[in-house]
Amino acid sequence: MNQAWGLRNLFAPLNMLTGSGSDVLGQASGLDQKPRRRVRTIAVAGGKGGVGKSTVAVNLSMSLAMSGREVILLDADMGLANVDVLLGLSPTRHLGHLLDGSCALEDLLMRAPHGLKVIPASSGGRRLAQLGSGEPAAVIRAFDDLPSPPEFLLVDTAAGVSDSVTMFASAADDVVLVVCDEPASLTDAYAMVKVLSREFGVRRFRVVANMVRHAGEARQLHEKLARVCDRFLDVVLDFMGMVPYDEHLRQAIRRQAAVVDAWPSSRSAQGFKQLAGVVDTWGEPDSPGRGRIAFFGGQMAPVVGW
Ligand SMILES: Nc1ncnc2c1ncn2[C@@H]1O[C@H](COP(=O)(O)OP(=O)(O)OP(=O)(O)O)[C@@H](O)[C@H]1O
Ligand SMILES: [Mg+2]
Repeated sequence: MNQAWGLRNLFAPLNMLTGSGSDVLGQASGLDQKPRRRVRTIAVAGGKGGVGKSTVAVNLSMSLAMSGREVILLDADMGLANVDVLLGLSPTRHLGHLLDGSCALEDLLMRAPHGLKVIPASSGGRRLAQLGSGEPAAVIRAFDDLPSPPEFLLVDTAAGVSDSVTMFASAADDVVLVVCDEPASLTDAYAMVKVLSREFGVRRFRVVANMVRHAGEARQLHEKLARVCDRFLDVVLDFMGMVPYDEHLRQAIRRQAAVVDAWPSSRSAQGFKQLAGVVDTWGEPDSPGRGRIAFFGGQMAPVVGW
């Protein structure tokens, strides 16, 4: 088995969608096809390193899982993969094994507390940062076709605005932008919004103010970023919520547990629960599948016919 085999498997659902693969077209047109629930994908991004992207991804995922939702958390930061460390997991396989065809998506799922499932990005072996154009979108698309697809797929992205980060973020239904009260966080977040809006057509961002002291500071951070984005970019920046600076969170990290699990009544855990509540209020995605389909239709064209 090789990478081509793995990728063909990932792209099979796409061929069904576009009718570009004659062998699967027959299956796609079958009358016994059941309508399938589509997975809602939320990318957690931020631009700057260390602002709390992984912390938000882990605790928001677990809060959603604790409220009874089916959630998979995908670690898409191969360079500094750490979701497994944050949750005390010991992965033996990672996304690279799916791509080289040596295992199926289900084989990668690791169990974390409260029914949360995690797909690790071990830093050994193949690095996600080296994925080709379109592969992140294909990976996300593959979750729709799991035997029991989750309700939510959260994607923890790396720092910076590398191709891998922008491709995962643009292929997702929603982009959560984590910022903190540092000038570099705001300038890097702006750079991220600029690239995603101008080059990938992403219009809406959900801002989470992390490591803040109080609600006023969180609102100010959002307003600062929204003001500059309103002036120069055609985007909507929603205020999603805040997570206070909290020593309990640091202790939870040392215990390799999510703070929402280890200290559910702590200030940060309350913040994460509110964020999960906000997710529940979101309507249908602005343009469902926009990133994925547009992406496939454009840059993926040569690969689809493979
Ligand atoms: N609300 C908070 N209160 C206290 N500490 C926090 C909070 N959020 C994050 N941290 C701390 O900040 C550090 C960086 O967090 P995290 O690893 O989630 O950032 P990141 O944006 O994912 O970083 P990277 O870009 O390297 O992936 C962690 O050590 C974590 O303990
Ligand atoms: Mg991280």
